[in-house]
Amino acid sequence: MEFKNLAIRKAEGLGWVTVNRPDKLNALNRQTVAELLQAFESMRADEEVLAVILTGSGEKAFVAGADIGELANLDETEGREYARRGQELTRVIENFPKPVIAAINGYALGGGTELAMACHIRIAAETAKLGQPEVKLGLIPGFGGTQRLPRLVGKGRALEVILSGRMVTAAEAFNWGLVNRVVPLERLAAETEALAKEVIKNAPLALGLAIEAANRGLDRPLDEALDIEAEIFGQACATEDAREGTAAFLEKRPPRFRGQ
Ligand code: COA
Repeated sequence: MEFKNLAIRKAEGLGWVTVNRPDKLNALNRQTVAELLQAFESMRADEEVLAVILTGSGEKAFVAGADIGELANLDETEGREYARRGQELTRVIENFPKPVIAAINGYALGGGTELAMACHIRIAAETAKLGQPEVKLGLIPGFGGTQRLPRLVGKGRALEVILSGRMVTAAEAFNWGLVNRVVPLERLAAETEALAKEVIKNAPLALGLAIEAANRGLDRPLDEALDIEAEIFGQACATEDAREGTAAFLEKRPPRFRGQ
């Protein structure tokens, strides 16, 4: 598959998706959003890909937001559709059945923070800066920022970030739990890869089911959420990999998972 604004690489079970518009700080125009949707769809079906790493090209930006040029003249209907399209992308990532890790290599602003928040795990370079500066443009976050940021860091911090439009340093984002780890920029790819490789040693179906359980349960009352967990735990028990994983432990040998 040929992409204009993405670079795709596959190696050792990992699919690397790099937003590649460095001269525009990897801003998300419509074409890039469409390409990201296509890239994730192809990685969903690709048996060689066990986890996806999402990052930005260059040393300056992960994604500096939606493309402001495209936002300049939207009317109400177009604006709603624009947000819907970006939300569709973040939903695909959030519900992706394989782990998705964001390697935040620089500015992650607006749609960049929103994209990162949809990923299952976030690792940031020390130089990364996150934020939701839309109000500076007379807009509000539209790719899930008003909803996912409060869920990740609490409403108080989220509204401070959204209302001030200020940038949050990687250290602050780490203290809030907005990113999982902070590493020197030159170590970002290697550390992300190492974590991804640790993750993909585990049973592939179990990874997908764990993501599903966390996502489906999060906004429900605890009793309902626990019902969902029990149902999905049952599905995990019915996999061949669960036979293999438990047998391997009892036989004191490494498991050989087959994703079945
Ligand atoms: N949309 C479109 N173009 C963008 C962009 C965006 N979100 N973010 C950066 N760019 C472009 C700039 O227009 C510039 O293009 P040019 O060279 O053709 O003029 C290029 O990327 C480099 O950006 P520049 O602003 O010159 O870099 P900087 O180092 O001075 O500043 C930022 C970096 C991230 C602080 C600044 O680019 C910025 O504030 N970007 C917008 C962030 C934002 O509001 N995002 C939310 C959108 S809803």
